[in-house]
Order: sequence, then structure tokens, then C-alpha cells
Amino acid sequence: MEFKEVVKNRYSCKKYSSRQVEAEKLAAILEAGRLAPTAKNLQEQHIYVVQSPEILGKIDELTPCRYGAPTVLVVAFDKDNVFTYPGDKRDSGAEDAAIVATHLMLAASNEGVDSCWLNFFDPDKAAEVLGLPENEEVLMLLDLGYAAEGVGPLPNHDSRKPLSETVTYL
Ligand SMILES: Cc1cc2nc3c(=O)[nH]c(=O)nc-3n(C[C@H](O)[C@H](O)[C@H](O)COP(=O)(O)O)c2cc1C
Repeated sequence: MEFKEVVKNRYSCKKYSSRQVEAEKLAAILEAGRLAPTAKNLQEQHIYVVQSPEILGKIDELTPCRYGAPTVLVVAFDKDNVFTYPGDKRDSGAEDAAIVATHLMLAASNEGVDSCWLNFFDPDKAAEVLGLPENEEVLMLLDLGYAAEGVGPLPNHDSRKPLSETVTYL
């Protein structure tokens, strides 16, 4: 798909059918995450693929925002393997994981798979409930699947500020 179409077609899907994401499409999505850039090429991300009813049930205890998605990707990162930027105020952990997550989300769109980026959960509780190692922090969850019949973007999907409000040429 043309990149412009990939970006244009993506929207946050808030109700899924039970149709599972095909293994080859999931593989292509995960590969796009693998190719994401990270600071110093640290690749501190760790992606967990959740498809079992048992663990999907645990996700439902963490957030109301699975919306019936049959696959959820948990994007975590190794807190002990991040690059701290000069000034010591920020490090690469969340940033790198967000770039990986964006690759995953756009690759899903490219595969015709619907998605929704989720942050409406307590990341500490998520790490505990999912049994992640101590050194890993959950950045976000990515719902993946196919929209239920009749479901499409919410009205706010088309509401974006003009570039004149968000871009300044210095
Ligand atoms: C960082 C981030 C966190 C989000 N968290 C949630 C969430 O927890 N639950 C949810 O339903 N949607 C969530 N969304 C989806 C946004 O609400 C959605 O992207 C936005 O309203 C624009 O709609 P669109 O994605 O359809 O264009 C999140 C999106 C981003 C980028």
C-alpha cells in the first residue's frame, strides 16, 4: 500500500469482530517493529503477543479498551538498557518503545488490520498481572483485529488541527 494510504486508512478501532489476525500478517507487523530505529540501536523493546483467552481476560481486568480485539500486543522496554540524554532529564526507553509501537500500528494498517493504541491502564499493574520481569516497563497496548460490522472511525478521527497551528518555520 502507498504510505499515504497507510496513514490515511488507519483509525482507532473501538469494536472488533472475532476474526483472528492471520499469522503471516502478524509476522509482517512484528517485523516492522523489529526494523524500528532506537537510540544507539539499543533495541530495548520487548513485545508480548497476547491471543489466549486467559491472558486476554487479564487485559480486560486492566483496561476497558480491548474492545473485543482477538490479539493484543504489549509493548514493553528494558528500563536497564536505555540511553540517558545529555542533561540527564530524559532517556530513550519510552521514546524508543513508542517508535516501535508506531511501526507496529502503521504496519497493521498496511496489512489491512485494524488497531487501537491504548494507554488507559496502570503500567505497574500491567507488568505485575502479565508477570513481566522486574526490569521491564509496559509502554502501551496495541489492540489488533478486524472491525466489527458497521464499525468505523469515530467522528474525531477527521478532526485535526491545521498545520498553521502545529508547525512553525523558524
Ligand atoms: C498515546 C495514545 C494513547 C491512547 N490511548 C487510548 C486508550 O487508552 N483508549 C482508547 O480507546 N483510545 C486510545 N487512543 C486512541 C486515541 O483516542 C485516538 O487516536 C484519537 O482520538 C484520534 O482518533 P483516530 O486514531 O481514530 O484518528 C490513544 C492514542 C494515543 C496516540
